[in-house]
Amino acid sequence: MFLKELRVVDWPQGTSQYPYNLPALHKLSEIHFNGAVTYFVGENGSGKSTVLEAIARCAGFNSEGGSRDNTFSTRDVELSLSRHFRLSWLPKVTNGFFLRAESFFNFSSYIDELAEDPYNDKKKVYAAYGGRSLHEQSHGESFLSLFSHRFHNKGKAIYLLDEPEAALSPTRQLALLRIFWEHEHSGQSQFIVATHSPILLGYPGALIYNFDTSPLSVVKYEETDHYSITKQFLLNRDRLLRELFKP
Ligand SMILES: Nc1ncnc2c1ncn2[C@@H]1O[C@H](COP(=O)(O)OP(=O)(O)O)[C@@H](O)[C@H]1O
Ligand SMILES: [Mg+2]
Repeated sequence: MFLKELRVVDWPQGTSQYPYNLPALHKLSEIHFNGAVTYFVGENGSGKSTVLEAIARCAGFNSEGGSRDNTFSTRDVELSLSRHFRLSWLPKVTNGFFLRAESFFNFSSYIDELAEDPYNDKKKVYAAYGGRSLHEQSHGESFLSLFSHRFHNKGKAIYLLDEPEAALSPTRQLALLRIFWEHEHSGQSQFIVATHSPILLGYPGALIYNFDTSPLSVVKYEETDHYSITKQFLLNRDRLLRELFKP
């Protein structure tokens, strides 16, 4: 575990402008990280991606997704937030990856461009991604390729993942938990993951931050909406649907 703490400094008060208007960040002084896996949960629009992007920016990753070497850019991301974040590391790691669910397609195209570049060794470029273009693999396959090839034996590294479950079947979400577990046991990796998945959230010992409170706060797995709504749905599906579809 390398990133220990994020401190918020010089926060502009009383502005209604994004991102300063996000309730999760209101009066926030710090976020602690104390294990291999930390989760961000919260409603759509609660600010999870915004904070993850700002952390990526502070860590020196391309905030469009990718690692330090992947400097592609498709839109001009103005991340004023990162100017108010101070990260405490022990030790500082520069290896890692920021995976934005939305820009995975662009990232795949970028890797294809690198592979086609006459100055690069095509085989070598694709080696980290399962041996072929990410576009030629299904969404789920390419995600797991990334996790199992690219994220393997990289030395100390931090991975920022934004909704990695988007591409993954339940079985493959379990596979991802296994990957987290292997990385945790190697002592080489830290993950910060924004997710809606009740499966991923169940990783043992993970610290979960709830972005639906102001400021964001720690929540237990069993107290997340993701857990309780999923549980209710699975246990009382008929009753819940009757309620939901009442005229
Ligand atoms: N560049 C932007 N300018 C203005 N508002 C934004 C911008 N990016 C995101 N937002 C708004 O900020 C809120 C938080 O967005 P986001 O961090 O993507 O939420 P989450 O990842 O939790 O779903 C949303 O209401 C979104 O509309
Ligand atoms: Mg998001």
